[in-house]
Amino acid sequence: MDYLEIEGGRRLSGTVRISGAKNSALPVIAATLLSDHPVVMENLPDVVDIRTLLKLLTILGANVEHEGNRAVIDCGSVNSTRAVYEIVAQMRASILVLGPLLSRFGECEVSLPGGCAIGQRPIDLHLKALEVMGATIEIKGGYVHAIAPEGGLHGGTIVFDKVSVGATENTLMAAALAHGTTKIVNAAREPEIVQLCQMLAAAGVSIDGVGTGRITIEGTGGKALRFPDPVRIIPDRIEAGTYLCAGAITRSTITLEDVEIEHIQSMLDKLEGMGCSFEIDGNSITIFPPEDGRLKEVNIVTAEYPGFPTDMQAQFMAVATLAEGESLIEERLFENRFMHVSELNRLGADIWLKGNVAAVRPVDELYGADVMATDLRASSALVLAALAARGTTRIRRIYHLDRGYDDLQGKLSKLGASITRLHE
Ligand code: EPZ
Repeated sequence: MDYLEIEGGRRLSGTVRISGAKNSALPVIAATLLSDHPVVMENLPDVVDIRTLLKLLTILGANVEHEGNRAVIDCGSVNSTRAVYEIVAQMRASILVLGPLLSRFGECEVSLPGGCAIGQRPIDLHLKALEVMGATIEIKGGYVHAIAPEGGLHGGTIVFDKVSVGATENTLMAAALAHGTTKIVNAAREPEIVQLCQMLAAAGVSIDGVGTGRITIEGTGGKALRFPDPVRIIPDRIEAGTYLCAGAITRSTITLEDVEIEHIQSMLDKLEGMGCSFEIDGNSITIFPPEDGRLKEVNIVTAEYPGFPTDMQAQFMAVATLAEGESLIEERLFENRFMHVSELNRLGADIWLKGNVAAVRPVDELYGADVMATDLRASSALVLAALAARGTTRIRRIYHLDRGYDDLQGKLSKLGASITRLHE
């Protein structure tokens, strides 16, 4: 199995280009199921999760040409509507094919995603929305079996009692081909949702309230969509935030290119509070560490966009370990997203957990050690800590990192980090 060996304590410098957003690319790829024409996609991140979803579409019968950051996906040849356990078990986001398969083909079976390291992550909101649109849903043998009413799904008013990115995306895709108007109340507002809405709108679907908590969609009444232009995936705000944290924790000046500044505002506010400063030039941003090299403590409560993202909680915790005072970090979205705490403590951090709040007490130094990656963002927090730690850190189970960070090792090496991928 591969592992990463990081020699900590080096200053970083230079420029890193931010890749396309995994979490935007996934729903965009799922949305190609709404079309029977080829869809061109650009700026795809080169990560395992993208390849997993493309493989699922291929199993469903789609014709996929994928090379580097570009793909052409033709779902005109789809001849199966069963999303098999073998793929869904690898990646929960496979559930995103549920809405588009059901609205285009009137019936589908999608394996229930199983357990997850960061929390229970039920899919009740996805299913409830489809039921409001007329679907009959049965769960049998580990699969969700969904059937649309005679003539197809119909519009309806869906009030989510919790904000969910995935449920909003599935509902948008189902509503795009439904008969009549669908209203989503308490919709997610993440930039990834906005990209999906813009893609649907470019294919002629009328959508109001994009980027707000109330979205109204006029369905095509069963007519498959035609996406006229290449879809260019938006920059990955979580990857950008992770590199900003790399700058902060190693007290380095680095520049990020291809960033949507508005999407990372909540992270910039926190880093500024910790004493970092920034220079912004269009879609580039340079982070400068505090002049005296001393980071201040930070208090964070994770929230839905535009609040502070749960996907950045672990990375900021790594940075906070080396701040001057005690930081408090509260996780509000996922009940179990603290697996990195004990691994960070193995590197010399002093973090105490009570319920969903972590108290991060300052330490003077982190020390290299053997640690284990547990989920995608927890893994990147360990990489950050290792970059600042004295000595050598070996991080195992890095397949988690490969799922969502495009060429992490190459990008960090280019910035001057000592990071090697080894095999045992
Ligand atoms: C998306 O997951 C992201 N994944 C996650 O990124 C991210 O952490 C999460 O949104 C929150 O921002 C993708 O976009 C592919 P949710 P998603 O539905 O859609 C509860 C990463 O590291 N909920 O918004 O699955 C749920 O348990 C990842 O890249 C229900 O109760 O998240 C959670 O507490 C991991 N019932 C909250 O809502 C449901 O039916 C938000 O989850 C659905 C969700």
